[in-house]
Amino acid sequence: MSPTTMKAAVLNRFGWPEVVQIMQRPVPVLKANQVLIQNQAASVNSGDARIRSKNVLKGYKFLMSLVFGFNRPRIETLGTVFAGRVTQVDASVTKFKPGDLVFGSTELKMATHAEFVAISEDAAITHLPDGLSPTEAASLVFGGTTALFFIEKSNLKTGERILINAAAGSVGIAAVQIASQMGAHVTAIASSINHDFLKKNGAASCIDYTATNLTKLDETFDVILDCPGKMPYAQHRHLLNKGGRFALVTGPLVEGIMAPLKSAFGMHKIIGGTSFATCASLEKIVHLTQSGAIKPIIEAIFSLDQIKDAYTQIDQGHKRGNYIIDFGMQNR
Ligand SMILES: NC(=O)c1ccc[n+]([C@@H]2O[C@H](COP(=O)([O-])OP(=O)(O)OC[C@H]3O[C@@H](n4cnc5c(N)ncnc54)[C@H](OP(=O)(O)O)[C@@H]3O)[C@@H](O)[C@H]2O)c1
Repeated sequence: MSPTTMKAAVLNRFGWPEVVQIMQRPVPVLKANQVLIQNQAASVNSGDARIRSKNVLKGYKFLMSLVFGFNRPRIETLGTVFAGRVTQVDASVTKFKPGDLVFGSTELKMATHAEFVAISEDAAITHLPDGLSPTEAASLVFGGTTALFFIEKSNLKTGERILINAAAGSVGIAAVQIASQMGAHVTAIASSINHDFLKKNGAASCIDYTATNLTKLDETFDVILDCPGKMPYAQHRHLLNKGGRFALVTGPLVEGIMAPLKSAFGMHKIIGGTSFATCASLEKIVHLTQSGAIKPIIEAIFSLDQIKDAYTQIDQGHKRGNYIIDFGMQNR
């Protein structure tokens, strides 16, 4: 008999990590075209923390409230990344069957910080390849698909020079790995404690942002990937070569809106936007993993009961790589 209730991390208001409570909730009821997955691993990441706390850059708070709720969360369980075993499928499902190991992202539908999650077979879900554990797969989705999105949009080429800010985080470390495997020269920005880690993952050189005025660097780049939104284009544009691309992974809303206009009339292309995982991007991640271009970077593993601890650490702003929730179901 399949269980009818499950453990979930539930949010009944926005705020500090303490607003997250572990509670019993009904197992999702399958809708047309959906598969039900018993979660083995999920990730807790900066995106979950931003939604939980509504700590967003200028201009985004109202938009975020429209999507996620003003006072009370519209969806009470956060989390986008999942990896686990299919336990049920709707009769119309053709790509998956009970027993399959899968991973992916529910994106705006969230709800993966729970023992079971339902998702349409046409959404961002794919089979777990041989050689990758659910924990490893869960670690690749958030940072990997985001890094890929911005690297592809910035049209990075072999031999070009890329500057990656917040290079040790989930997005940054995936970008370091992908860019260096493409044959780009990677300069990584992080505090010095992360420099050996970054060099092991492909950075050619590192800069400590706590000891360096980034506006005064004496080298230039073809691409700048500003993950934390700490390098405003106006103050750092001189670091870009002619024809250079500036990716605002995080940036104020107005910068994102102005990006096409500034790109049309300036000497650089400014790239904004939000990355959403798709089935195609997951498959690219699988391919990059199998070719050795990216490796899972798992810094810490928590149980679902420990999710507040994961959030508390993320909120400190110095997460390295990825934090995973292990549901204690692997090898079953
Ligand atoms: N546009 C999109 O679609 C999209 C998608 C995903 C994420 N994001 C955004 O991308 C950003 C990075 O996400 P993430 O998941 O990689 O974060 P993360 O894993 O939490 O990493 C945070 C990293 O930021 C570094 N950091 C902290 N303060 C810094 C500063 N002042 N200057 C430079 N680096 C600093 C830390 O390195 P040290 O320990 O060395 O300080 C840490 O490694 C977040 O703002 C997130 O909201 C955007």
